[in-house]
Amino acid sequence: MAISSTQVVPDTSAIPQHVAIIMDGNGRWASKRLLPRTAGHAKGVQSVRRAVETCGRLGVKYLTLFAFSSENWRRPADEVSLLMRLFVQALEREVARLLEQGVRLHVVGDLSAFEPRLQDLISQAQAKTAHNDTLHLTVCANYGGRWDILQATRNMLLARPELAQNPAAIDEEALAAHLSMAWAPEPDLFIRTGGEQRISNFLIWQLAYAELFFTECYWPDFGERELLAAFEWYRTRERRFGRTSAQVHGVQGR
Ligand code: IPE
Ligand code: IPE
Ligand code: MG
Repeated sequence: MAISSTQVVPDTSAIPQHVAIIMDGNGRWASKRLLPRTAGHAKGVQSVRRAVETCGRLGVKYLTLFAFSSENWRRPADEVSLLMRLFVQALEREVARLLEQGVRLHVVGDLSAFEPRLQDLISQAQAKTAHNDTLHLTVCANYGGRWDILQATRNMLLARPELAQNPAAIDEEALAAHLSMAWAPEPDLFIRTGGEQRISNFLIWQLAYAELFFTECYWPDFGERELLAAFEWYRTRERRFGRTSAQVHGVQGR
């Protein structure tokens, strides 16, 4: 199971092992061009392709993309249905490319809210790519960080009912084992495009010690150059995980 950054100091490297992105700004990208918001979502799919390709090439192991939040159902019905259609289309068209690139696809979130055809496509795409290991691409769909913690709590208690009688025995490890991305290490680098500086109910548990990078760039304009700039910024961060700078540099030992 993945190591918790609040329990153990994780190993770090110059290239983040796990990158998590809030792909924001599609609507504003389109409005600026007097196009319907949905045109921005369609264009955003190209940025997803680029991000997967670049991360795979640079040796990132886990790329996690926020595609649809549990709060995005509040949007106008036609925008929600276009987003669902794009998701279906991507699952139909992109799996061959993922296979070529050695990408394993995971989709996490409350998938029960999606229509059966979309749920089937998700299962098929996950099964077809299950043997891949170069890059784990996780798409968060109908995902919310609070939903994740709640479902983990429920599933932990179902798996270990004795914990309900002994709450003091519940530790981070017990809960984290049931989070929807329990197989992955916590994100090293979080990126949010579109200029907002908030987490918007993304991976709230797992982002505890991520480096947070915000850029004004709208998601449809986010390409290799912007990703490399984020990696460059990441490389300059000193990841202390609670320690002093001297400890990080080994001056006083650990
Ligand atoms: C992000 O872009 C995509 C989704 C939330 C699905 P937005 O649609 O939020 O774009 P802005 O923030 O309105 O520009
Ligand atoms: C966050 O973007 C969700 C996704 C990118 C899928 P939003 O555009 O929905 O976030 P808020 O509501 O402005 O914070
Ligand atoms: Mg937005």
